[in-house]
Amino acid sequence: MLPKRRRARVGTPGPDSSAARFPGVAIYLAEPHMGRSRRAFLTRLALSKGFRVLDAYSSEVTHVVMEQTSAEEAVCWQESRVVPPQSGCARPALLDISWFTESMAAGQPVPVEGRHRLQVAVPRKGLPSLVWMPPYACQRPTPLTHHNTSLSEALEMLAEAAGFDGSEGRVLAFSRAASMLKAFPGPVTALSQLQGLPHFGEHSCRVVQELLDRGECVEVERVRLSARYRSMKLFTGIFGVGVRTADRWYREGLRTLDDVRGQVQRLTQQQKAGLRHHADLSTPVQRPDAEALQQVVEAAVEQALPGATVTLAGGFRRGKLQGHDVDFLITHPEEGQEVGLLSRVMHSLKEQGLVLYHQHWLPQGQEPARPARRSRTTDTLERCFCILRLPSSLGVAVGGALGPCRPWKAVRVDLVVAPISQFPFALLGWTGSKHFERELRRFSRKERGLWLNSEGLYDPEQETFVHLAAEEDIFRHLGLTYLPPQLRNA
Ligand code: UTP
Ligand code: MN
Repeated sequence: MLPKRRRARVGTPGPDSSAARFPGVAIYLAEPHMGRSRRAFLTRLALSKGFRVLDAYSSEVTHVVMEQTSAEEAVCWQESRVVPPQSGCARPALLDISWFTESMAAGQPVPVEGRHRLQVAVPRKGLPSLVWMPPYACQRPTPLTHHNTSLSEALEMLAEAAGFDGSEGRVLAFSRAASMLKAFPGPVTALSQLQGLPHFGEHSCRVVQELLDRGECVEVERVRLSARYRSMKLFTGIFGVGVRTADRWYREGLRTLDDVRGQVQRLTQQQKAGLRHHADLSTPVQRPDAEALQQVVEAAVEQALPGATVTLAGGFRRGKLQGHDVDFLITHPEEGQEVGLLSRVMHSLKEQGLVLYHQHWLPQGQEPARPARRSRTTDTLERCFCILRLPSSLGVAVGGALGPCRPWKAVRVDLVVAPISQFPFALLGWTGSKHFERELRRFSRKERGLWLNSEGLYDPEQETFVHLAAEEDIFRHLGLTYLPPQLRNA
């Protein structure tokens, strides 16, 4: 990738500058997945190094450079461009950004090699045609329902088990392979279909092969039934219990919820609440529950500050029909009006007797902190982690573990407040999926040199936050095709 720090040093001669050092080369940067600001940056960089960059596509173009574009897409793009033929002109080469990057680093055009070319793979007879997929989950659409559920679920379970053992490397490896399968355009029936795709390491391939051959994988079943996995899954499913606590309990010999209840004096208030409402909280929240809660929260917010808005985020925004909690984002169109709002909202909910537990989390300082280098960081938006009482009088079928006659049900609700200037980042960050967010942050950092989190997008070179007004603008600024929430189920 191009180090972002060069931006400051790059001069800004206009495109079509004729002082080109390499007369045989005329570059056209094709924008579809590049984004306007990135294209402008790359143009300035190339011009400063004496390359000729054409602003419009014409018969003079010798090198078309594209980013995150499949060969098929590149060919379609070229065929849709009608350029008046000029005698003796060959078609320009369709090239991946790697040719451009290498040429900039070399200070001169490097020879075009096969690996730079965006070529359509001609399917060989008898072999399944090869599918091309970009490496980052934020570069490809991932719908909620897909063609490879049993394969992706098996790999995700191995990722979860790796997380229980603190093996972050294996978590990532299995999560990335699972996510590729979720985005794969059809059912995978032979391992050869995955050939050449990123993120399928030896271990993931072995699991997929076994599942395809026998419909079951010995390792997956062994892990699923192991005492360790079962207890860790049970313990981390308790509100307020993370992997570290669950692991300590397991090593101390605890195995069941009753074992944990026997240690009640050691539990935090949050964990006690989690245990008290465990039956309800381990029953999935249904979409009608989420919608009923939205009305309750909206009413409390409107009462606390007229004009403030409530937006459903998390899995429900991605189209899921059930979830483990409900995530709401609160803002007000006027910056600063949101200060103090959450306390008033909680007060209103408490007065209605709807709060079973809450933990209010306030940001430390006034200024938003710089997003840290690491991709998963806790951001500093004000929030409240709650357990709310959802009365069945709200017209919701309160069923669940304790039967249909209960007058109410406990539901986990996260309320997050963002000033309007940070709202698009908060919305993007809290919509998920978790893997999508992790990949988006990694993409920003590694490919764009920008640090993204739920508070903002930070440019470490300029030492400034990038101001953007909507989720679409964040994607565009990062040179990514916009993906609506329903396609972020990575
Ligand atoms: P959730 O854990 O609620 O996941 O986080 P989800 O996708 O809605 O899934 P279910 O249906 O509830 O099980 C939603 C998003 O909020 C972010 C997560 O990274 C995820 O993208 N999040 C969550 C945070 O940024 N910080 C948190 O403390 C918790
Ligand atoms: Mn959620």
